[in-house]
Amino acid sequence: MRIDIITALPSLLHSPLNDSIVKRSQTKGIVQIEVHDLRHFSTNKNKNIDDYAFGGGAGMVMSAEPIARCIEHLKSERRYDEFIYMTPDGETLNQRIANKISTLKNIIILCGHYKGVDERVREKYITREISIGDYVLSGGELAAAVLADAVIRLLPGVLNDETSALTDSFQDDLLAPPVYTRPANFEGQLVPDILLSGNEKAIENWRMEQAAERTKIRRPDLWKRFTSNSEE
Ligand code: 6GU
Repeated sequence: MRIDIITALPSLLHSPLNDSIVKRSQTKGIVQIEVHDLRHFSTNKNKNIDDYAFGGGAGMVMSAEPIARCIEHLKSERRYDEFIYMTPDGETLNQRIANKISTLKNIIILCGHYKGVDERVREKYITREISIGDYVLSGGELAAAVLADAVIRLLPGVLNDETSALTDSFQDDLLAPPVYTRPANFEGQLVPDILLSGNEKAIENWRMEQAAERTKIRRPDLWKRFTSNSEE
């Protein structure tokens, strides 16, 4: 998979994309991530990429031209499956969306900033708009890093069996059960006996029960979906 990220603040993306699993998946050649600095696509001498909003009001708007130039440049090199704009007024990211995007070959992610991008960029190029939740970030970069991480960990070969994405919270609409590691006795707090029993079937059942209990209490919305899906 190839992910091209267009941003006014490339440095904000550096650390999340160059550490841990996301870094390893690039080293392994499973994903190629290219970050494009919008300023390189500005043609005026001050390298401006934003301007005042028509009609007035506080806040700058990201200009159409540098974004269009960057996107056209990328489009001339390969075919893209999706042009994603990170914006608080997009569809809220969830596991289903991450799963879908992980099946694509080439995507562009545009990070919004200031008061957002000129509406004509959205009309002309954007095929999908994604938010990461109902709160406001200073820009779309951290949201883009969240999306990239959620998608990349699903790609074949990124995780090994132990950390398989199939056992994640949300993958089956259930939260994950509690986990423990050594020591078995931590200042008087004991690990549940069953996990030390060696009885794989019983452990599996216990984990399932715990996951169900947790989901019922913490996320009744997910529990409702889980029970209605398993009735079918
Ligand atoms: Cl994608 N961008 C910004 N600026 N804020 C957000 C967001 C995106 N998702 C949630 N809040």
